[in-house]
Amino acid sequence: MIVKASAHGADIPVIGFGTSMLGGKAAEAVATALKVGYRHIDAARKYGTEDGVGDGIRASGVARGDIFLTTKVSHENLHTADFVRSTQTSLKALQVDYVDLLLVHWPNPAIPLAETMDVVARMKREGLTRHIGVANFPTALLDEAIHLCPEPLVTDQVEYHANLDQTTMLNFLRRHDMILTAYCPLGRGRLVNDPAIGAIARRKGKTIAQVALRWLIQQPNVVAIPRSSNPQRIAENFDIFDFTLSDEELSEIAALRRAGSRIADPAGRAPAWDE
Ligand SMILES: NC(=O)c1ccc[n+]([C@@H]2O[C@H](COP(=O)([O-])OP(=O)(O)OC[C@H]3O[C@@H](n4cnc5c(N)ncnc54)[C@H](OP(=O)(O)O)[C@@H]3O)[C@@H](O)[C@H]2O)c1
Repeated sequence: MIVKASAHGADIPVIGFGTSMLGGKAAEAVATALKVGYRHIDAARKYGTEDGVGDGIRASGVARGDIFLTTKVSHENLHTADFVRSTQTSLKALQVDYVDLLLVHWPNPAIPLAETMDVVARMKREGLTRHIGVANFPTALLDEAIHLCPEPLVTDQVEYHANLDQTTMLNFLRRHDMILTAYCPLGRGRLVNDPAIGAIARRKGKTIAQVALRWLIQQPNVVAIPRSSNPQRIAENFDIFDFTLSDEELSEIAALRRAGSRIADPAGRAPAWDE
């Protein structure tokens, strides 16, 4: 059974497969992920891997309707015509008629938010995507987006892992019945050396990566999208449904948050984050 989180009619498997930085390995990695049991794939036009993701989906033999597929439109393409073109190009590369979720990849203050919210909603109404959302929007901007968008936004995809506090964002999203999609859920690999999570992992007979991911998906309204190019680690990251962290263990891991741990913070483009 696939464990899912729900928001505004979207049922999103709580573990997804990240497809950035996979280069020529994307097709093989995606096919492996789908064979292992993942049913949620996170793509983006910007990653340059959509062709591989499409090939991987085909090669897996898993039915399109059983997969929750996300892609994103890059910040430079948020004017109407560019947005439509980017979405159509993504569908072609992914070899699908629709995606399940279409996200604005990063905000762009040089392009009116109302225009972008209109076109992303249009993509939903025209059937190119089943659901819509944003990524990397801090709460103030997300609030504006929600008010401007004619269709419900189901998620804000943001960086979230044990070292990064997202309390403000999480509270905001829960108030709006939205999901936090946690990217860099393993701190881009840095968390797997954490001694405190290591102690919990030893007790549970699981790996540090598994505990770090379990910590995320055990929180209400949180889904996580780890990436790996390695078949064994792809399987490992999905094998997190046979154990539970206690409230005490959840708090112990939450206490690992510290300032300065944000990984995705592009100079000159990052918005004013909440924390
Ligand atoms: N919306 C956005 O702006 C945004 C930004 C960043 C990321 N994302 C999305 O989120 C996904 C995940 O984030 P991410 O790729 O940056 O980081 P991540 O998933 O936190 O970490 C990936 C790194 O961890 C390693 N790794 C994975 N599983 C492991 C395990 N079990 N044990 C040890 N090491 C492990 C991988 O190496 P190996 O390949 O060698 O296993 C890779 O180097 C991306 O692929 C992308 O889809 C979105």
